Amino acid sequence: GALGLADRYGRRATDLRLSLTDKCNLRCTYCMPAGGLEWLSRQQLMSASEIARLVRIGVEQLGIRELRLTGGEPLVRPDLVEIVGTIRTNHPKLPISLTTNGLGLDKKARALKDAGLTRINVSLDSLHRDTFAQLTRRPLLDRVLAGIEEAGRVGLEPVKVNSVLMRGINDGEASRLLDWALTNGFELRFIEQMPLDADHSWTREDMITAAEIRGLLERDFVLTPDPGRRDGAPAERWKVRRRQSDGTADGRIAGSVGIIASVTEPFCADCRRTRVTAEGRVRSCLFSHEESDLLQLLRSGADDAAVAWRWQEAMWGKPKAHGMDHTGLDAPEYVQPQRTMSAIGG
Ligand code: GTP
Ligand code: 5AD
Ligand code: SF4
Repeated sequence: GALGLADRYGRRATDLRLSLTDKCNLRCTYCMPAGGLEWLSRQQLMSASEIARLVRIGVEQLGIRELRLTGGEPLVRPDLVEIVGTIRTNHPKLPISLTTNGLGLDKKARALKDAGLTRINVSLDSLHRDTFAQLTRRPLLDRVLAGIEEAGRVGLEPVKVNSVLMRGINDGEASRLLDWALTNGFELRFIEQMPLDADHSWTREDMITAAEIRGLLERDFVLTPDPGRRDGAPAERWKVRRRQSDGTADGRIAGSVGIIASVTEPFCADCRRTRVTAEGRVRSCLFSHEESDLLQLLRSGADDAAVAWRWQEAMWGKPKAHGMDHTGLDAPEYVQPQRTMSAIGG
């Protein structure tokens, strides 16, 4: 395990994104079909102790330095607090974060904080009840807002909020979302929509690009690049000042905003991520077409070294880039993976 999770292009994965479930209680159009999917059975899902063992192998043998728990929606797992608590006990210093849609967070935030969760990212694409309901196919905006507020209250900071902008749907809300986040002390990130939806209805023309997002925000704010180190993170950060009525920037920095330009400004060359699906398969990339089954190996009685070796093998084959841009000359043409976003974990 000395090389950790290296790949043939010289990258090393140190961030583990582990999915706890394929289920979700929203149906965001860019992520899951309206009717849901055929859910995995309880037996197919990794158990709490299997998850803890994989994380331990990752940390002790493969150089994992950060963990993010994802879904589907991780809060639908009844044993989420227990999972976080066990991992925290095993790894007192490991940063553990959660990506969630926020439903039920109002009730669970305190327990998650107490169990040792480090921080949280919540998805929220609209502050209008109707638009939210159209986007997620569920009328539950107020509950998500309650969850976000509670996360801040219990100190799961910084609370990051993820917004995917969609043309003609919520692209008119960019400034309002940022104003709301700045006012409430949340760190907002706008995300370019990636082609990982169930209906394969993504088009390049409909995607709101990072350049467009900056243009939309520049009407009401003045953005300047944040000189802080990016460290392989998807989000490029900007410092934000409010634009005054005469068009000039307010002298005071109001906060920051992130833009995740997965499609038009890919960050694959600096990627540090390895993913494990809810049924225990390694994906070397969000856009992989191959997976490697760690859970089956674990259940067959394999020792830690054998599991670590299979994980390394899987990561060695990590693709150079997703191939959606046309700048990486030897990148393969983009082919959408079989799984929708919800079944990968983002
Ligand atoms: P932070 O550590 O808080 O910066 O988390 P994050 O931004 O990495 O995680 P989050 O789950 O909030 O994801 C935000 C967006 O980044 C989602 O749309 C993810 O799909 C996207 N993202 C995360 N990792 C990758 C990646 O490896 N490749 C691509 N293309 N997008 C990614
Ligand atoms: N493109 C970009 N981001 C997406 N997310 C879900 N589906 C997509 C997509 N097709 C975002 C969610 C969540 C994060 C895990 O990924 O909004 O915040
Ligand atoms: Fe659920 Fe998240 Fe997918 Fe929306 S983006 S359907 S909240 S898993």
